[in-house]
Amino acid sequence: MRKEVKIQSGGYAMPVLIIAAYDENQKVELMNAAWGMSCGSDQIALFISSGHKTTQTILKSKVFSVSIADEANIVPADFVGIATGNSMPDKFAKSGLTAVPGESGAPVIEDFPVCYECELLEEVNTDNIHCIVGKVVRVTADEKVLGENGQVDPEKLNLLIFNQFSMNYYKMGELAGIGWKEGKPLMD
Ligand SMILES: Cc1cc2nc3c(=O)[nH]c(=O)nc-3n(C[C@H](O)[C@H](O)[C@H](O)COP(=O)(O)O)c2cc1C
Repeated sequence: MRKEVKIQSGGYAMPVLIIAAYDENQKVELMNAAWGMSCGSDQIALFISSGHKTTQTILKSKVFSVSIADEANIVPADFVGIATGNSMPDKFAKSGLTAVPGESGAPVIEDFPVCYECELLEEVNTDNIHCIVGKVVRVTADEKVLGENGQVDPEKLNLLIFNQFSMNYYKMGELAGIGWKEGKPLMD
């Protein structure tokens, strides 16, 4: 029997993304974002509030990075989602993370295994949505998460998943099936 539970969006698996940009003094501003996803083969949409220091920094710098957070970095990943650069000027230093400028000019946070460097394409601001859309111009990954084919092996990522039913972090589990193949028997 199905029972009704509390209305809550995002009870599904969401990513733990670390969004970062340099301000005019090359200081890193960064935040945690679960409301983000691919919206094209080389585009990422992030639903981030306009008041966040990171958002304001991205709107000025026009370049930013999106890193995939892994289990090893759960402490700084959560911290940058609690603290705000609006009232903590040394937020990045306190996180203990390290960054280098990527080819795009966006900060590449070295601690996280995969980093998408993005150019700001547009800001969408309606009654219900505040979103920025980035074009991915470069992706780099720590070689320890690459498979034999030179591409990112998801099973090596230990990536974090955020879930809004509990507001807790989980980690990605094991392979459950093959995309575009499991449903094929029903195609006949
Ligand atoms: C797990 C988690 C997920 C979050 N996801 C989002 C999000 O998708 N969008 C958003 O606007 N804020 C999100 N936040 C909140 C921001 O990360 C938080 O307000 C942060 O302090 C903003 O930092 P800033 O002002 O230095 O940019 C999230 C926080 C946590 C802990």
